[in-house]
Order: sequence, then C-alpha cells, then structure tokens
Amino acid sequence: MTNLEERNLFERIPAPLLSWYEANKRDLPWRKNPTPYEVWVSEIMLQQTRVEAVREYYTRFIAALPSVEALAACEEEKLLKLWEGLGYYSRVRNMQKAAKTIVIEYGGKFPEEIETLKTLAGIGSYTAGAIASIAFGKATAAVDGNVFRVIARLTENSTVISDLKYRKYLETELSKIYPKGRESQFTQSLFELGALVCKPLSPACERCPLAKLCKANENGSQRLFPVLPVKKAKREQDVFVFLIETKEGFCIRRRESGVLKGMNEFPSHVSYGESEKEVLNGWGVYAFTEKKRQKFTHIFTHIKWNITCVWVEADGAPFDTYHLEEIEADISLPTAFKQCLKMIEKDKIGE
Ligand code: ADE
Repeated sequence: MTNLEERNLFERIPAPLLSWYEANKRDLPWRKNPTPYEVWVSEIMLQQTRVEAVREYYTRFIAALPSVEALAACEEEKLLKLWEGLGYYSRVRNMQKAAKTIVIEYGGKFPEEIETLKTLAGIGSYTAGAIASIAFGKATAAVDGNVFRVIARLTENSTVISDLKYRKYLETELSKIYPKGRESQFTQSLFELGALVCKPLSPACERCPLAKLCKANENGSQRLFPVLPVKKAKREQDVFVFLIETKEGFCIRRRESGVLKGMNEFPSHVSYGESEKEVLNGWGVYAFTEKKRQKFTHIFTHIKWNITCVWVEADGAPFDTYHLEEIEADISLPTAFKQCLKMIEKDKIGE
C-alpha cells in the first residue's frame, strides 16, 4: 500500500469507529469521568494485565490511594500488597517514584504535555500518549498491541509487532487523524475495537465498523496479521522453596537478586544439584524435620520455575517469621509463592 493510500484509509477510520464505540463500549470503572491520576493508574495496570483482571485491582487501589499525594506517601509494604497478584512489580515502584516527582517538582499537578509525561518513571511513549489523549484531550496516539493489530490488518502490513520504529511511525500517522474534541474517545475506541472485535485469534469481522476499509477482511488474510516475533524458549530452573516453620511462624525474606528482586518470598534457592539439606545448613538450619512437600511450576515472562516446595519444622529461624494470618493480611507475596502458601492454608483447615 502506498503512503497516499494509507493516508486515505486512515482518514476514513474515525467516523465509523467513534459511532461504534459510543454504542458498544464497555462500562469500565476508569471510564467514569476519571481524573488524570486515575487514567494513569488504569493505563499502568492495563499494560500487562487483562481488563477483567484489572477491574477489581483498580477499584481497590483508587479507594486506598485516591490521589497522587496519597500514592507518593504510601508505605512500600502497603503499596506492594495493593499490587499483589498483578505481577511486574516494577510498574508500581516506578509509579510511586513518578508520584513523588509530580508532588515535589510539579506541586501535585499532573503534567499535561506528552514530552513532560515521558520524563516520568515508568511512562513511555504508549502510556504518555494514552494519558495525554484520554485525560487532557491531546491528539496523541497510543499504540499498544491491540492498536497495532487493528492497523496491521487494515493495511495488511507485515512489519513485526515488536518493531519500535514502526510503532513510532504509527503514533505519528495516527495522531494526524485525531478528531477535535473526541481525542479521549478515539484512543479508547481503538483499544476497544482490538479487544472486542479485532481479536487475535477470532476476529469478528461481521461486527466490525471498519470491515469495508480492511484489506485483511477483503482478502481473508486476518490470521496472517500482525506478524509476531519468533518466540524464544523459556529458560527452566529447578527451585527449592522452603516453608521453614518455627514456633514464631514461617520464615519470609526479601529477594536480593534475580527475578522478583526486592519482593518477599518464602526462602528459595535455584538448585544446580545441591541437596535440600545443604541449602538449609547453609542458612544455619541444622535441626529440622520434614512435614510435607509438593511440586509446582510457575511461568514468568522469560523463565519457567520447576518448584519443589519443602515444608520443614525447625527449632530456630534464620529469617524473620510471620504467622499465617499476618502473611495473609500484611505481607505481599508474589503469585509464584501463592501455591506454597496454599499448602499451609489447606493443612490448617485439615484437607
Ligand atoms: N487497554 C489499554 N488501555 C485501555 C483502556 N483505557 N480501556 C480498555 N482497554 C485498554
């Protein structure tokens, strides 16, 4: 497709898409007259998490931390607990860093300009475009995976979806077709079309407001677009996770390195052939009896953990200890360790 043909096609997107959006948009909690702060929180949560999963987290987060000032002042453990289960914890750490910058450098007023937004921790081109358009009515496109898929199919463009240069190009080109006064809706209508109609595996072209414009629809090539990058195999690691129980409760510590660095864990160890006894001895735990064990797997973005969870009763604790109720109420525990926590909970109710 020539640049001119593409330009002509792009210009015909907004009118039918906006009408469709008004009739079909989902009722989402961040769409109810949100403040810029609320738009920001929702966009960060939605970066790597599905809309349905975000709903509840978003509502709870906003109730607990209703303003940028509240986020800036929040104690770390409480913040991580609010994020518990969402994963990619650097997102919330960066958000707090940015909140502090907004409070200290901008007097608590959310910056409106896309270039200023991009200087804040955790806000890249996509998030800045989303905030500037949704919260401030700027003509700034936000190209996420959904939007990329819609455009790749409309134009039968075979650029690989991870190509940042092409994303940048799309941001520039799409920003030119933003309808005045409808910027917020236009950004969200593109997200919505990708999520509800132009779906990755089962596009519902019969319901698509852009079907008449779409090259992939015309040629039946929807499944060929967007072109995905070749997937690398995940690295596998054998990991011991120890439930070390003493009279004072279970040991929990902070991870100092590797995946989930800085997060709480039941003491774990990536094993390259060491025995469990050697690992426990290395922490100064010599007297212990095994109570239970179970195997789990947990999949991160680039790593797969083959977990052996070993529950031991010990006389002394090499790390801080917490009772089950305290862990459940106050300690943020990444999902990778939740199955181990379940072992304790099941035992308590006598399953
Ligand atoms: N995905 C990313 N941002 C979104 C939003 N504001 N609404 C729905 N889905 C989204």
